[in-house]
Amino acid sequence: MAVTSTTPRVLQAAEALEQLRALRRKQPVNFSAFYSSQLGGIVTDPALMVIPFDDHMVHRGHGVFDTAAILNGKIYDLEAHLDRFVRSADLSKLALPCPREEMRELIVRTTAASGRREGSIRYWISAGPGSLGLAPAAGAEPGFFVMIFGGLAYPETWRTQGIRVMTTTYPIKPPLYAITKSTNYLPNILMQMEAQEAGLDNGVFIDEAGNVGESSNMNVAFISQGGVLQHPKFDHILSGCTSLRLLELARDVVGTVLRGVEVRDIPVAEARGAREMLLIGSSVKVAPIVEWDGKAIGDGKPGPITTALRELLERDMRTASDRLIDISY
Ligand SMILES: Cc1ncc(COP(=O)(O)O)c(C=O)c1O
Repeated sequence: MAVTSTTPRVLQAAEALEQLRALRRKQPVNFSAFYSSQLGGIVTDPALMVIPFDDHMVHRGHGVFDTAAILNGKIYDLEAHLDRFVRSADLSKLALPCPREEMRELIVRTTAASGRREGSIRYWISAGPGSLGLAPAAGAEPGFFVMIFGGLAYPETWRTQGIRVMTTTYPIKPPLYAITKSTNYLPNILMQMEAQEAGLDNGVFIDEAGNVGESSNMNVAFISQGGVLQHPKFDHILSGCTSLRLLELARDVVGTVLRGVEVRDIPVAEARGAREMLLIGSSVKVAPIVEWDGKAIGDGKPGPITTALRELLERDMRTASDRLIDISY
């Protein structure tokens, strides 16, 4: 709804709801089910997937979130995502809205209600409503929200032809904020927009010491000329659940696919000489970067080790029974 220059009317509740529905008709969304502790249940009408404006997550960014994948009717690696979610809440001084087991159950039940067998689950803890101040309002109850949606879509060419990235001009978040998955994504958003405006796919943060950080919503890693998987340390970037799992899987293929696995500071100058460069994350999985700051990585084509690591991860996502939760739809 464009902002009108005419004097706005005071709306009745039914009119406001109709306006929310009109908004969704104008811009259809791929949201299948939404649980809200504030509503006390699940809604499937996207017009009803709303949060009060005075929730401090909305107007101050005092909230945390995480995202897990639904594949073939199963949720992958939810415990790892919940570990990070709870850690981020703690670092943000957000009380848990309910015990972790209850949050897990609400995530599973919302997924079942959505009927969706492929897609993503994003969930949030908010500081709660009650004022427009900074610290949580008196009596504020933390909110818990779960959205089941189609997932972030990346072009097929990212996988088949590779990704082109640039070093962002925006400063990396200080470590405390980078390791916390809060709803403050302004640097990440600006980095992605800057890259898109330059006709590229994404950006890369570099830290003050000149070491590689991460991308907008994905981790970055390298394959050295000697065939070693090199990943930045997780003390100044987000601990990607996908990266952590891939590093475990990669250690099992040292001697065949890889010559080694290293998690350490990676100076930019060294990284530029890599044989392959890759993005890693729940939504992108593993994808090859073929160009960085206008220079080809390796021969400028998706590399074989990146492809092998992607297959390794995809197999794990389908078959790691200890990491998959079956949904009773
Ligand atoms: C800033 C940032 N780095 C890395 C990642 C990758 O994390 P994951 O593998 O858990 O999706 C994400 C996505 O959550 C992110 O937002």
